Formats: sequence, C-alpha cells, structure tokens
Amino acid sequence: MRSVLEWTTDFFAQRGLASARLDAEILLAHALGRDRLALYLRYEETVPNAVLRAYRGLIQRRVRHEPIAYITGRREFYSISFSVDPSVLIPRPETEHLVEHVLRRVQHLPGQSTGPGPLRILEIGTGSGNVSILLAKQLPQAHIVSMDVSLPAISVAVKNRKEHPDCSERIRFFQGDLFDALHPQRARFHVIVSNPPYVATDAWGNLAPEVRDFEPRVALDGGARGTEILYRIVHGAPDHLLPGGALIVEIGHDQGEAVPGMAQHTGRYGEISVLDDYAGKPRVLVAIT
Ligand SMILES: C[S@@+](CC[C@H](N)C(=O)[O-])C[C@H]1O[C@@H](n2cnc3c(N)ncnc32)[C@H](O)[C@@H]1O
Repeated sequence: MRSVLEWTTDFFAQRGLASARLDAEILLAHALGRDRLALYLRYEETVPNAVLRAYRGLIQRRVRHEPIAYITGRREFYSISFSVDPSVLIPRPETEHLVEHVLRRVQHLPGQSTGPGPLRILEIGTGSGNVSILLAKQLPQAHIVSMDVSLPAISVAVKNRKEHPDCSERIRFFQGDLFDALHPQRARFHVIVSNPPYVATDAWGNLAPEVRDFEPRVALDGGARGTEILYRIVHGAPDHLLPGGALIVEIGHDQGEAVPGMAQHTGRYGEISVLDDYAGKPRVLVAIT
C-alpha cells in the first residue's frame, strides 16, 4: 500500500489536485472495497493486481477533476452517508448551517411545543434528499414535503430515503417548479427550507472544474445575478407559510443585502434576518411571516 499511495499522492500533486494524499487514500480504499483505516492496517502489504487495475481507472477519473464523491458514489452530510450521482449536487458542509438554523428555529414556532398536529416542512430543491432526510431524523414530529424540478434528482433522494426507514413514512417527494404544484390554501407549512441555485451565470467560468464540469447546472445557476430562483422563493413562500412560519434559505456570501432587500420589498414578512457562517459571511436568510 505504502508505495502505491506515495506514487499516487505525487502524481495527483503534480496534476494540481489540492488534497492529493487524501484523494489517493479514499480511492485506494474504494478500489479495495474497504475503509481508509484498512489501508493502514495493511500498510506494508502488496496491492493485488485486480485492485490495482481498478484503482488506475479511478486515478484517471480523478485527474480529469471528477469529484471524489461521484467516483465513490457517496458523500457524508452531518455524519450521515448519502448516495450521490452526477444528477445531484454534492452536499456541502456549509449547508449543515441551514439545517442547524431550521432545528433552532423550530423551537420558537408558535404552538410547536404544545400543538397536536405534525410540524409541516416544505423543502424546495431536494437534490440527494440530504436536508429533508436529516430534518426528518432530527425532528420525529415533522412531516416533510420535498420537491425538485429534476426527476433524476428525485430518484436519488428516494434511494437515500430507503436507507432510513425511521423517517421514510414522513417524507414525500415530488417533481415540480417551485410552488407551481402547491395549492396556496391547502398547502401551508410551518417552515419552508431551501438551498436553491444561487451562482450568477457570469461567475460560471470561475468555478472549480470539479463543480463547473461535473455538477448539475440546474442545481447551481441562479440566473444573470444569481438571485432569480431566490426572488421567486421569497415572493412565493408567504402564500405557503402558516402565520408565524419561517422561510429559511441558504444564500451566496455576496447576497447578504440583495436577498433580505427582496424579502422586505414583498411587505409580507414581519421579521427578516441574515445569519453569518463561522467565517462571518452572510449565508442564511430567515424571514418570518
Ligand atoms: C443547490 S441544490 C440543493 C440540493 C440539496 N438540497 C442540498 O442542499 O445539498 C439546488 C436544487 O434545486 C433544484 N432546483 C433548481 N431549480 C428548481 C426549480 N425551479 N424548482 C424546484 N427545484 C429546483 C435543483 O435541481 C437542485 O437539486
């Protein structure tokens, strides 16, 4: 293992991959069908030829900048492993903040501690289903309606839901364009959560090749200014929130003024705030009806 890992690490570093050693380890472990710890337990052993052949194929994919998560087909989010493929965005650590803000906010919702009915949550832009599944696991009182415009993404989300029988009954997925399929009177929620596409079309060329060349454009491109989908969400959400309900949305770090401005402009939210991430950058809009 040692010499194979050292060779691959050098090769990846020469090709400009930032996390060369880690990538080499993850891919070798994947080729072996084991976890990374197993590499160190067998560090001085020779890698079998069949494994080496498979490993070479993985190395070729990685030097073309294919993301590790698409090669292995898995990514951890909030310590849970999710199945991913190129039809879904690879879950990002920053989206864990979004989930945390929903969990925090739910405690302040009117009637939530005492109310008899389920906590009703709508997720817009399901992707792999990571956010909805995590919320359902953390909030046993929650019933979640989770939607995406992409049918292939919904299939991945359904596959992930199957791995969590504890919450599968409480998450309903459907395909659609934002609020279009929802009845404004009947479909009302305590929380609407979303990590929508918010990259400006002009900024597309500046993205890392891992993102630009492999992740689904529909998951990232938010139109000319990056705020087209955000605008529609901020305007549409009040028709689907219960009184005192919360819209909680991830935004780009340079959208901390534009997006709350849009929310203010609707005149339909009583309280609007933007929450920073650990680096002090604005990342989450919370707007209460
Ligand atoms: C940034 S990804 C979020 C994926 C996942 N929820 C997460 O946070 O990791 C945005 C998702 O929104 C979906 N989407 C884009 N436009 C949409 C629309 N008009 N209606 C519904 N979903 C949309 C994309 O297909 C994509 O899955």
